[in-house]
Amino acid sequence: MRSRTRIAIVGTGQVGTATAFELIITGLVDDLILVDRTPQVAASQALDLNQAASAQSFGSTVTSGDYAACRDADIVVLTASARLQPGEGREALLESSCRIVDSIVPAVVDAGFDGIFVVITNPVDVITDRVLKLSGFPRERVIGTGTALDSLRIRQELARIFSVDEQSIQAYAMGEHGDSQMVPWSAVSFWGKPLDHAIEDNPERARGIDPDTVLDVAKDSAFQIVKGKGTTSFGIAATTCSIIAAIVRDEHSIIPVSVRLEGEYGHHDICAGVPVILGVNGIQEVVNIHLSDAEKRAFDASLANIGAMRDKAPELPSSR
Ligand code: 2OP
Repeated sequence: MRSRTRIAIVGTGQVGTATAFELIITGLVDDLILVDRTPQVAASQALDLNQAASAQSFGSTVTSGDYAACRDADIVVLTASARLQPGEGREALLESSCRIVDSIVPAVVDAGFDGIFVVITNPVDVITDRVLKLSGFPRERVIGTGTALDSLRIRQELARIFSVDEQSIQAYAMGEHGDSQMVPWSAVSFWGKPLDHAIEDNPERARGIDPDTVLDVAKDSAFQIVKGKGTTSFGIAATTCSIIAAIVRDEHSIIPVSVRLEGEYGHHDICAGVPVILGVNGIQEVVNIHLSDAEKRAFDASLANIGAMRDKAPELPSSR
C-alpha cells in the first residue's frame, strides 16, 4: 500500500490555512498536521478543515499538534510570521521572523523531523538561509517559495496584455522575493516565441509594452492586497501547493524557488530565487539560465540586496 503523505503546517493564520485548504481539496496530502503557537486556534482550524476533508473523497485527515507531531512528516511548511503593515516592505519582518524560526526549527528537528522544509515566512530568502543553518539540512531539503509567486504574477500580467493563457507563457523572476528581483526577459517566451518577437508581431496588443512596467505591476500587487486585506494568502498558498505537488508527485518540474546557491550564477552560500528542478527528494538541480550581461548585473545586485539584509539579521542561537 502506498505510504501516506504527511505534511505539517506551522502557523495557522491566513496563509497557513489557505495552504491547508488547497492541500485538502486537491488531495495532495493524506495526513495534515496543524501547529500554531496558540494550540486552540490550530485545533479549531483542524476541526473546520476536517469537515472540508470529509467533503472530498481522498480520505485525508487533519489534526493539530505540537512540534513533536512534525516528527514523521514528509514536509513541514513554515508560514508563521508577524503581519506586514500597510506600506511596510518584507524586510520589516526580518527580526521577528528570525526569532520565530529560531524557536520553531530546532524544536522540529530535535523532535526527529528529517524531511523537507518549505519556507514561506518572509523575508523568505534570508529566512530560508536561516532555516538551513538552524536545521543543518542539505540545501535539497530546504526550499523557500522565493520568486515562484512573483513569476506567476508576471505571467498573469503578460497574459493580460497579450490575451494569452498564463500556462502558455514561460516567464519568471529571479533573485530576491522583493523589490530588487529581476526578470531575464531574454528567456521569456510564448510557447517558444521570444518576447521581443511577440512584441514585434503584435504591436496593437503590446501597445509599447515596457518590461519594467510589467515587473512593477507584478511587484506592486502584493502590497495592493496587503493594503486591502492585511496579508496575501491565496496566491502564495497556490504557489506553495505547486511546489509541494512537484515533491509529492516526483514531477521533476521546474519552478523558481529560493535555494542556497553553491557556485551557480557565480554565488555561494546565499539563498535566492532561481529555477530549479523539483522532485521527491526536494531540489534536484539548479537550472542555469544564460543571462545577458545586463541581466547578470541585475541578478548580482539583487543578491547583494539579500546579503545586506542577511547581515542585519540577529545572531543565530548559540546552540546552532
Ligand atoms: C507576497 O508576495 C507578501 O511575500 C508576500 O504575496
